[in-house]
Amino acid sequence: MSNTKNILMLPGDGIGPEVMAEVKKVIDWSNDKRDTGFEIEEDLVGGACYDAHGCAVTDDTMVKAKSADAILLGAVGGPKWDNVAREHRPEAGLLRLRKELDLFANLRPALVFDALIDASTLKPDVVRGLDIMIVRELTAGVYFGEPRGEETRDGVDYGLDTQIYSEPEIDRVARVAFDLAKKRNNKVTSVEKANVMESGVFWRKIVSKVHDADYADVELGHMYADNCAMQLVRWPAQFDVIVTDNLFGDLLSDCAAMLTGSLGMLPSASLGTKDPVTGVIPAMYEPVHGSAPDIAGEGKANPLATLLSHSMMLRYSFDMAQDADMLDQAVQNVLERGLRTADIMSDGMTQVTTSGMGDALIEELGKLS
Ligand code: IPM
Ligand code: MG
Repeated sequence: MSNTKNILMLPGDGIGPEVMAEVKKVIDWSNDKRDTGFEIEEDLVGGACYDAHGCAVTDDTMVKAKSADAILLGAVGGPKWDNVAREHRPEAGLLRLRKELDLFANLRPALVFDALIDASTLKPDVVRGLDIMIVRELTAGVYFGEPRGEETRDGVDYGLDTQIYSEPEIDRVARVAFDLAKKRNNKVTSVEKANVMESGVFWRKIVSKVHDADYADVELGHMYADNCAMQLVRWPAQFDVIVTDNLFGDLLSDCAAMLTGSLGMLPSASLGTKDPVTGVIPAMYEPVHGSAPDIAGEGKANPLATLLSHSMMLRYSFDMAQDADMLDQAVQNVLERGLRTADIMSDGMTQVTTSGMGDALIEELGKLS
């Protein structure tokens, strides 16, 4: 990788630009104080891109995305674009980025900060110390399977999608999960609906095959997706790494997010395959939360999920573990100081705006450096 670190920033819609502004502050700070040499290029995605260009992401932006060292995305979507044709809907921009960059491994860590234990709707004893990594397959399954659309059979109209997985698609995401587990608590739970779906039976077979061949030292369990949703709220501490398909991963990660107190706290990394020549891993980082159009522009958004996504970028794309640890610690410190955006506000805490949270974080970074 070259010495300059090129980041493509795609703030997107709704609260996206607001939360991204706080990441920019952190990047400016680190360039200034720690000589990190980040270069930011900003572009449009989602509804913002549709309004400007009539599509959710342009070919020109795709070229930039493919050559950037990492992409940081805010959020896409909003009711304004509800009636736009599906191929131009804001979400289509996100899906195109994931698919064309082949970002097949979506890492969604659900970590409960001690200071936020009371923000969770679950009992403190259930969520204290929680640290789960959901590995969601991101470029296949029902999100992309063909055929899809509407068709007429024997005079009756149907809407359809196709859940389909190839062996290589399951194999490679399973390996990511097992490799992560080895650095954590050595336990993987593979989630599907093998009791109902053929693709679920196949998923289980391939994950077991990878396990038995190359990861027999990692503890592997299988669970049906409905049971997993229930277990996540019943006894989440039983999980270390969860590996699952695109759709179940979407649902289960929202569920896991709420364990942490707010969807506004959950970061994610979407990773592709390392280029053997350049050593670059195609990667996009984004908060798990959406564009929250109802609170956009009001300074109410929680920027911490996006800041933690930036921390994942430091760790996974740039091997800057020390800077990532520092940012994670700064997040912990602002929470321990009692600062809260509206989504995680509770009695006795101090409510701050989106930029107030970002400013406090910079202050903490200053103390830590
Ligand atoms: C997510 C989102 C996306 C998804 C939407 C915005 C297309 O819910 O990243 O979890 O369904 O993957
Ligand atoms: Mg989702």
